[in-house]
Formats: sequence, C-alpha cells, structure tokens
Amino acid sequence: MRRLGKALLVVSMVIFVTLPALSANKIIFSESERATIVSHGPWPPKMTSDPSNRVSGDKSAITFGRELFRSRFLSTSRRHSCVTCHKPNLAYGDGLARSTGVSTVDRNTLSLANLRLNRWYGWDGSSDNLWAQSIRPILDPREMNATPTLIAKRLRNDAPFSRGYQATFKSSPTSHDDEQILVNLGKALAAYQETIVTPKTPFDRFRDTLAKTDKQQVGQYPLAAKRGLKTFLGKGNCGLCHLGPNFTNGEFDDARIRYFKPSGGIDKGRFGGIQKLKKSPHTLSSRFNDDPRKASGVATRYVTRSHRSWGQFRVPSLRNVSKTAPYMHDGSLATLADVVRHYSNLNEERPHLDGRGLLRRLNLTDIEIADIVAFLETL
Ligand code: HEC
Ligand code: HEC
Repeated sequence: MRRLGKALLVVSMVIFVTLPALSANKIIFSESERATIVSHGPWPPKMTSDPSNRVSGDKSAITFGRELFRSRFLSTSRRHSCVTCHKPNLAYGDGLARSTGVSTVDRNTLSLANLRLNRWYGWDGSSDNLWAQSIRPILDPREMNATPTLIAKRLRNDAPFSRGYQATFKSSPTSHDDEQILVNLGKALAAYQETIVTPKTPFDRFRDTLAKTDKQQVGQYPLAAKRGLKTFLGKGNCGLCHLGPNFTNGEFDDARIRYFKPSGGIDKGRFGGIQKLKKSPHTLSSRFNDDPRKASGVATRYVTRSHRSWGQFRVPSLRNVSKTAPYMHDGSLATLADVVRHYSNLNEERPHLDGRGLLRRLNLTDIEIADIVAFLETL
C-alpha cells in the first residue's frame, strides 16, 4: 500500500511538473496581442536632437557635459557630483530607496536612460526639458546646494573648464552673465545624458521576430517571460499606462503608493510638479529655449493642475527595470516581485480619485507574479 502511494505520488508529481510546461510550450499570441507586442518597438527608436538646446548632439558639448557630470566642481562643498546619485554601473541610479547628497531627499533617484523620449522630467514632471532638469540638483540645497553666482565664478577661474565652455559655446564665460552660464552648463549636461541609450534586449529580439514572421516559437525567448508577457497584456492590463517602445505613456498616474513623505508631510506629486513648472524660469516658454519657433512650449503654457493631479507620479519606463531597484517614487518597494504583488493586492480606495482610477486589484497567483517578473527581466 505504501509503495503504491509512493508510486502514485511520483506519477502525480511528474504530471504536475510537466503539464504546465507542456501547455506553456503552446503559448500562442492572438493577432491583437501580436500587434501590441510589435508596438513595443522597434528599439532603439530614432533619437533626434533637441531643438530647444542648440548644442544637443554636438561633439564638444557631449565631451564637456561628460566632464561636468563626473566632476564635483558643481557642488558647493566639492563633495558631490551627478555620479554621486547617478552611477554608471547601476544604470545611472544609486540603488538606494531615497538618494543622499548634502542630505537625504524624499524621492528615489530616477535612473538616466533614453531621455530624449521623455515629454516631462522628474517624478512629478516639474521640468519640461532636459537642460532645466539638469540644473535643478545643482541648486537644490539637499543635493549640490550651489548658486548661479558661485558656479559662474568657479567656471571663470578654472582654466580647463573655461576651455571646455569656450569650445562648446564659442564664447568665453567672462562674456556671459551668471544665469546664462548656468543654463549653458545644463545644456552641455543634457547633450551628454542624451547619449545614454539602452541596447536591444531579449524582448526586442522576440518582438522583431514576431514582426517579421508568423512563427512564434523561434528564438530563445524564455517560456516564463512569454507567459508573463501574456499576463502583462491581458489580465494585468499593464499596457494601459506602460505602452509603446519605452513602456510608458509619458504622463502621470496614481499607482496607489503612499503619499506621506518619509520626512513628514505629503508629497503632492504632479500637483506640486505643475506648481514648480509654472514658477520655473527655465521652461520651453522661457527665453532660454533655443528653438526660434518655441513651438514645444505651447503644451507647458496650457497644462493645468486639477484635483486628480494629487498623488500622481510619472509612469516610469520599464526598460532596464531589473537594474534599477528599489522601485516607485519613494523607493518603498524593494524588488520587482514586490511591485507586481502591490498591483495584485491593490487597495482600490483613494478618496480624491472619486472611483475613476484605472487600476483594479488583480488577485494574481504566485506563478503569474513570478512570470510577470520573468518578463520584466527581459526588458
Ligand atoms: C543627491 C542625489 C542626486 C544628485 C547629486 C543628482 N541627482 Fe539627478 N536625480 C536625483 C533624484 C532623487 C531624482 C528624481 C527627482 C524627482 O523627481 O523629484 C533625479 C532625477 C534626475 C533627472 C530626471 C530623469 C527623468 O527621467 O526625468 C535627471 C535628468 C537628472 N536627475 C540629472 C542629474 C544631473 C545632470 C546631476 C548633476 C548636475 C544630478 N542629476 C545630480 C538625485 C540626484
Ligand atoms: C494606471 C496606470 C498604470 C498601470 C495600469 C500600471 N502601472 Fe506600473 N506604474 C505606474 C505609475 C504611475 C508608476 C509610478 C508610481 C509611483 O512611483 O508612485 C508605476 C511604476 C511601476 C514600476 C516601478 C518602476 C520604477 O522604476 O520604479 C513597475 C515595475 C511597474 N509599474 C510595472 C507595472 C506592471 C507589471 C503593471 C501591470 C500589472 C503596471 N505597472 C500597471 C502606472 C501604471
């Protein structure tokens, strides 16, 4: 009897282990799923230069910007550089829940990649262009704590940096005022950061195969990732917000992360971001936009805050996401499994959404969660 029991156990284990694998082998995407998968590419997309920044794409600006990015010259204490929080070996993030310069800030460091695809910058979209976003940390008392006057004075007195400035902007820093110098440094930093583009991934190769042929089984794309992709598109409905080649709609939403700041008070999210944007002297509507048509500034002039902007944060790209832990604007979720579990157990209540939020509790199984993680890891 005991032997029979054991045999049955073994047989049932074999069935249990092989059945899902067999059915998983047969994962077939429908025509509409296929079209959506194809819409997550091609990668990398064509990156054009930024019309609001006259040195975007310029070789000497990129070299000068790289020097500035690595140098501690831009912080008052000469102890912090952009690399303090944007480390090249950590996908230009820092691996911390909340980043620390002069002191600790309330938000998680955004990793830097594919920045030309952004419509807004920062978790709350408080900048509408990359050069303005690059100036913010220099002036933020918690990050690099400098002033335009200090930076301009240092630059004029530093021979190598003055030469880099002259080579990029074709005039000496002695002929520009402090504010102009700061904005120009932001533009050189932007030119460098625009060159950080993530390479093709296993997902992209799978997507390219699907785009070209009917055969879905070709290639090395892992089965768990295929199952995860199916849930991402279907039951998970993740593509409502994480869409297109960069896996984001570029806008803002409320993913139900707590909005109390670790340092106290409430993070106003997009609501505060629009307030800051409207007050900024460095938007696309300002005199510093080099695009003579200033066409790109129109959206910024008309963007308005609403009740719903509270607690909204930018929908982040999911490219490279396995390298950018911890997650969410406050770094409160440590792993990708934690993020997917968060969506699975979501609290649908949020008073200011008046029931109009897009997210629903997903109640995923452990296998579905693991599969979505396997998919995210191929991005
Ligand atoms: C103290 C750590 C720290 C330092 C130093 C720092 N950053 Fe950041 N960076 C952050 C954090 C945190 C965010 C997210 C800010 C937010 O949205 O509130 C961020 C966001 C950004 C973004 C926005 C990316 C996006 O996708 O919108 C850019 C660009 C950026 N930083 C560039 C720089 C540059 C250039 C420097 C150096 C001049 C720099 N940072 C210095 C912590 C830092
Ligand atoms: C309604 C829009 C929306 C939907 C649907 C959505 N997300 Fe998100 N996602 C966001 C927003 C907004 C954030 C940032 C939230 C924050 O930081 O407060 C985010 C953050 C993330 C992050 C963290 C990225 C990082 O760098 O910190 C991951 C991973 C992620 N989402 C995966 C998913 C998956 C998987 C699904 C489907 C199960 C999904 N999202 C569905 C809007 C959405």
